[in-house]
Amino acid sequence: MNWWQLVPIEKRSKYNVAVAPSLLSADFSRLGEEIAAVESAGADLLHLDVMDGHFVPNLTFGPLIIEAINRLANLPLDTHLMIDHPDRYIPRFIDSGADIVTIHVEASEDLTRDLKMIKEHGGKCGLSINPDTPLERTKRFLDKIDLLLLMSVFPGFGGQEFVDTVLEKISTARDFREKEGFGFAIQVDGGINPDTAKRVRDAGVDIIVAGTAIFRSPDYARAIVDIRGQ
Ligand code: DX5
Ligand code: ZN
Repeated sequence: MNWWQLVPIEKRSKYNVAVAPSLLSADFSRLGEEIAAVESAGADLLHLDVMDGHFVPNLTFGPLIIEAINRLANLPLDTHLMIDHPDRYIPRFIDSGADIVTIHVEASEDLTRDLKMIKEHGGKCGLSINPDTPLERTKRFLDKIDLLLLMSVFPGFGGQEFVDTVLEKISTARDFREKEGFGFAIQVDGGINPDTAKRVRDAGVDIIVAGTAIFRSPDYARAIVDIRGQ
């Protein structure tokens, strides 16, 4: 269970694969209800997509809203920063309640410094790459991170089509982790539906992020079971 270290012991489910609903596709006018609904439907983490309109061509929310989400949620907040200059904001996100802070290799000017900053402020640290960024760019950091987020869409929007070159990255990262004895969890994000979920599970993923497939489904619990496949 390579994702267990990201969740407090009393909140861990028994499954090999964790599911992290992305609130990007939730109804923000009923945020409290939406969070309660996915929590009781079996979610393991809440995935929060932070976008700055620079690193990605879309804007979402920042620490103020995360602070409110933290008051509504019981599950760990898995915060995916799609922002330039993450170092300027990391402490504020952690102070607002972010448990995991994931930054992009394409966005950080100094990954060693920024990953260290997340750790020093008491967060779990994640590193992410876009579909066209080679896994190679993460290699130097794999002994230092808690989470490797492999994007299966170009970040910015929910509801895009799955890019299947991520499958090989998942299995390569998994083999490398076993060989080196590292402990990071492997997460995939974007274009997940029951079919693509099966493909990423077969490749060896630990945490599956899904927005549309959960929040646009009439039955969140069913959607989570279908993604988890267990
Ligand atoms: C995309 C975000 C994803 C997004 C996934 O930039 O990082 O978390 O919400 O949405 P779906 O599951 O609809 O592809
Ligand atoms: Zn995301």
